[in-house]
Amino acid sequence: KMQRFIDDLMRKMTLEEKIGQLNLITVGFDVTGPVVSKDVDVNIRKGAVGGVFNTYTPIAARKLQEMALRETRLHIPLMFGYDVIHGHRTIFPIPLGLSASWDMTAIERSARIAAEESAADGLHWVFSPMVDIARDPRWGRVAEGGGEDPYLGSQIARAMVRGYQGTDLTKNNTVMACLKHFALYGAAEAGRDYNTTDMSLARMYNEYLPPYKAAIEAGVGSVMSSFNEVNGIPATGNKWLLTDLLRQQWGFKGFVVTDYTAINEMVAHGVGNDAQVSAMALNAGADQDMVGEIFLKNVAQNLKDGTVKQEVIDLACRRILEGKYKLGLFKDPYRGVSEKRAKATLMKKEFLDDARDIARKSFVLLKNDKQTLPLKKAGTIALVGPLATRQRDLIGNWSGAGDWKQAISVEQGIRNVAGSAVKIVTAQGANFTDDQQMIDRLNAHGGELNVDKRSAEEMIQEAVKVAQSADVVVAVVGESQGMSGEAASRSDIGLPGPQLELLKALKKTGKPLVVVLMNGRPLTLSWENQNADAILETWFSGTQGGNAIADVLFGGYNPSGKLTATFPQSVGQIPLYYNHKSTGRPFNDQPLDKYKSRYLDITNEPLYPFGFGLSYTTFTYSKPELSTTTLSASGTLDVKVTVKNTGSYDGEEVAQLYIRDVVGSVTRPVRELKSFQKVLLKKGESRTLTFRLTPEDLKFYNNDLQFVAEPGDFQVFVGSNSRDTQEATFTLTGN
Ligand code: IFM
Repeated sequence: KMQRFIDDLMRKMTLEEKIGQLNLITVGFDVTGPVVSKDVDVNIRKGAVGGVFNTYTPIAARKLQEMALRETRLHIPLMFGYDVIHGHRTIFPIPLGLSASWDMTAIERSARIAAEESAADGLHWVFSPMVDIARDPRWGRVAEGGGEDPYLGSQIARAMVRGYQGTDLTKNNTVMACLKHFALYGAAEAGRDYNTTDMSLARMYNEYLPPYKAAIEAGVGSVMSSFNEVNGIPATGNKWLLTDLLRQQWGFKGFVVTDYTAINEMVAHGVGNDAQVSAMALNAGADQDMVGEIFLKNVAQNLKDGTVKQEVIDLACRRILEGKYKLGLFKDPYRGVSEKRAKATLMKKEFLDDARDIARKSFVLLKNDKQTLPLKKAGTIALVGPLATRQRDLIGNWSGAGDWKQAISVEQGIRNVAGSAVKIVTAQGANFTDDQQMIDRLNAHGGELNVDKRSAEEMIQEAVKVAQSADVVVAVVGESQGMSGEAASRSDIGLPGPQLELLKALKKTGKPLVVVLMNGRPLTLSWENQNADAILETWFSGTQGGNAIADVLFGGYNPSGKLTATFPQSVGQIPLYYNHKSTGRPFNDQPLDKYKSRYLDITNEPLYPFGFGLSYTTFTYSKPELSTTTLSASGTLDVKVTVKNTGSYDGEEVAQLYIRDVVGSVTRPVRELKSFQKVLLKKGESRTLTFRLTPEDLKFYNNDLQFVAEPGDFQVFVGSNSRDTQEATFTLTGN
């Protein structure tokens, strides 16, 4: 039916109208590149626009849609897209934080709410999920993804697609998801945004591609090509990537949109002039040109020159029209948007309550000596640090249409949760940074840093005085929201500016020191880890952040998050990730051994490993018991482990199962996550968990890109993080 409808429509379309569908324009709310679309109205009216992004609200959507429906020759509806990344109006934790919940129901729920809100606000299409595996925390966009693990990343990719798209995209409370950034954007060399990536196919298939593939299998409607090159060819003009892999191998049926001016940027990559990169991108399988207008200006000429064929243009146009058809836009171009519906939907109480709960689930307790946390609802708290009272940063980067003025600050959250039982005294204590160039750069892009003009010493002294008058110090420190995200790579990932000096001075007061972190990437925190009494990682936790933080600080919620990206001791260890290979000279903790794969000055260990996170309670694990020690090619293996809550709080635990393929035809990672279960255990309760493994879980891509499970010995590890595990072994037999 869809094909017939589109055949009929395309028969009526001129070449210009077809090329128009390949053009995505921005109306310029947010600009992440040097160009903003011009002549918006003129181009829409003449059918030279397929979609619009960066605009929302029922009024704007209606106005533009009416223009397309009433004033273009063929009345083809527009598709409206937007960067809804971790919520639309109700903002959830940044994706790195969401991933730390290891809670697929919560993650799916956040995407569902984002879909409800954005659809009610006139949008059809969201530029999410971002599933780029990232092992380099210098890269600012580590904030926008699900961390370093392909298995977990794949689960998250599926959950997000389900949340956005539901089971029927024609329903007007769903939105089409856009998988990005295809591909390998997270592997940018040196962690510098937009930089080159170059890697073996085996590494790609085993370690970086699985989450993209998972989203395709979940039925994601569109894909965004990435800015980077992949092994010498820019992703946006990479036929192997966009056609051979994506469509032929994986069977993707939707459309590919480029990233912002990414086709134009292929000129700077050095693969041709405008006309050449236009043909290269279209022939490669890029269907829609985001903002660059390269297709608009070159494709007709490309056709005349013979560098693109009519059927390639037709195919791209067809895919865009199919996207619109799948969204039901030809039948219901307004998708029921109205001011009334928006008012009833946006930031409704139920969504805010969920945002608070999901935020709490994303926090990771990194340290808690002498049960410093939870705090008592009594006495005086010195609430210090540049993030203690600010609302601006809580909603984080890429927070869509979120309004930071509606975010709950930590101070407000504490007041809401502890009321008058607690006296709060505050001091800013430090600016985020004293690097004027960085301040100017951040402020030029909405950072609103409001720098305090006093000297660092004066500010620290004031904070120390405040601390001395209190029973406990809660220091809320970290990055400003603009210090991570797109174009926010950092070469030093410690606490920026004078914040560490502030913590050192606070420590000297002898008061219990609780560090609450807000940041968009793993940080180096060696001093903090040695000296703070408690450390709570809260990322940028969204609209309800302050309430959620206060819930955890006072024990209303027992933290259960686990890191999804390794925290290194030092920036010099990067890239550092848990699922690395063994060298021929693995370091064996013998400090005097020299000819080992090691550093002279520090160990190879991370500060906090992948999967790490504490709770107010404690859990013990029994040794894993296997249902069999020989797994046949068609068999199953059950791994049973009993987890006991041995502390004095009810709490959730993420039990993690890793494997190691001991001998392979190619070298295999020292550990790979293969399963996990998040369980709530009452204090004193034990539960036996069963993890089922099949040979499918043991498969990997060999150097011929065959997906195989190789007979031989395997180790299986179960525990509370990728380091602290207990082990058992089994053999995969050849039959
Ligand atoms: O979706 C984003 C992408 O992640 C980075 N460049 C701009 C796009 C649209 O805003």
